[in-house]
Amino acid sequence: MRIKTMDELFVETLKDIYYAEKHIVKALPDMVKKAHGGELKKALENLRSETKEQINRLEKAFEMLDVSPRARKCEAIEGILRESEEDMAAIEDEDVRDAGMIGSAQAIEHYEICRYGTLIEWAKDLGRNDVAALLGQSLEQEKNADKLLTQIARSTTNRLAAGGAAA
Ligand SMILES: [Fe+2]
Repeated sequence: MRIKTMDELFVETLKDIYYAEKHIVKALPDMVKKAHGGELKKALENLRSETKEQINRLEKAFEMLDVSPRARKCEAIEGILRESEEDMAAIEDEDVRDAGMIGSAQAIEHYEICRYGTLIEWAKDLGRNDVAALLGQSLEQEKNADKLLTQIARSTTNRLAAGGAAA
């Protein structure tokens, strides 16, 4: 399709993050299952319920814009999720695998933070502060999830250093 206006670009990008969220929610149960550390397992479970909320918010945004909620294939998130699966399958040590999974989860979060950040600015430019505010709630959740993952990464790395699994 050809994108001619900012309104169209905004909607197409909304469809991109909609696709991403829907794929993330499908990938998370396997990550929860494979996580070894309790903190990480809990954080990923929480991420799953927040992702469901974010999907609902996107559907609400489509409704506010009077367009039907459709996903547009996002190659970027597919690539991130594929690498995540490959790493989970390739790493044998549970703590090393946790460290890899945290890295993958943060790659997911950073993709989402960048997409929501852009969408919020465009929504404001297009005079849709209502949509910007709605997406802002998801952006806050993504930022908090990223911060929590950083904290868990630190304790996982400490455990690795203490246990010598890094050798
Ligand atoms: Fe998300």
